[in-house]
Amino acid sequence: MDSNKRPDSMARITTKELADAFIEEQIAAVRAQVGDKKVLLALSGGVDSSVVAALLIKAIGKQLICVHVNHGLMRKGESENVIEVFRNQLDANLIYVDATDRFLNLLAGVSDPETKRKTIGAEFINVFADEARKLDGVSFLAQGTIYPDILESIKQAEGKEAVKSHHNVGGLPEDLDFELVEPIKLLFKDEVRVVGEALGLSHEMVYRQPFPGPGLGVRCLGAITRDRLNALREADAILREEFDINGLAEKVWQYFVVVPDMKSVGVKDDSRYVGWPAIIRAVNTTDAMTATIEEIPYAILGKITARITSEVKGINRVLYDITPKPTGTIEWE
Ligand code: XMP
Repeated sequence: MDSNKRPDSMARITTKELADAFIEEQIAAVRAQVGDKKVLLALSGGVDSSVVAALLIKAIGKQLICVHVNHGLMRKGESENVIEVFRNQLDANLIYVDATDRFLNLLAGVSDPETKRKTIGAEFINVFADEARKLDGVSFLAQGTIYPDILESIKQAEGKEAVKSHHNVGGLPEDLDFELVEPIKLLFKDEVRVVGEALGLSHEMVYRQPFPGPGLGVRCLGAITRDRLNALREADAILREEFDINGLAEKVWQYFVVVPDMKSVGVKDDSRYVGWPAIIRAVNTTDAMTATIEEIPYAILGKITARITSEVKGINRVLYDITPKPTGTIEWE
């Protein structure tokens, strides 16, 4: 039987009871597969890797070694949250790598979006491989592969091109010859969330909006600079806070700030104030292939604008992108 094919008889996991049964099954399967060996996992803090981490902590405890790489392109508070949940609350074996300088130095002056993506993807593998080589006796690599990833790679193998190159941890150097552990590879995203909640992960973590692998790197348009990246991170945090306060976070599929590499003149405290614009994007979709924009009430847009322009150094205007996909993609790069 092809282990990458979801059996027709497999029931859709929609309830806690079904999720509990799946978890028990996977715990037994993982224990049988890895025995007393160590398993490595790149833990980004996204839904899929978080669910795999929580499942494997249950199955094999400290035999799991999680590596969280902060590429310097995370949203505000994100790496801290990964440490809090997995190291402090779930007592995981977690290695935290702050690789901000490695990534930002490599990205300096790189403005082409696909080159940025490839640079970030390749460096991610380098950093992760460096950590893996420091460890003894690791035989397995766990991955948060889910069923749509498998379906997507079948499509690509058939010659249909993806619009943008996405990355995950696959493709490690040959000296790191791990056997894969992929406990959620037959699940669809909605099922992964049900399993995540059954494992005790917070609703917020399990239902968080998608965040691209290259992170804020593709939202700090053109060549990334630290000051503009910081402005983007702060403006994005304000947007997220206001979406939470105003009940939009639960409703909108994906929302974020983009900061282009251009400035305009403005005025602040009676002086000329040259700054970047912060562009808000807030979209709804079911499959990310097409998207509509959220009609954010003007009063909320006004408050967000007032906060961003007064609290974030370097931003003097806020724009709202009302372009659906098509013609705009969800991300700007
Ligand atoms: P686009 O911009 O193509 O985005 O309309 C569709 C969805 O994919 C996400 N996205 C990415 N995810 N690596 C990822 O892991 C990437 O390089 C990447 N580019 C876009 C985007 O956030 C949206 O949810």
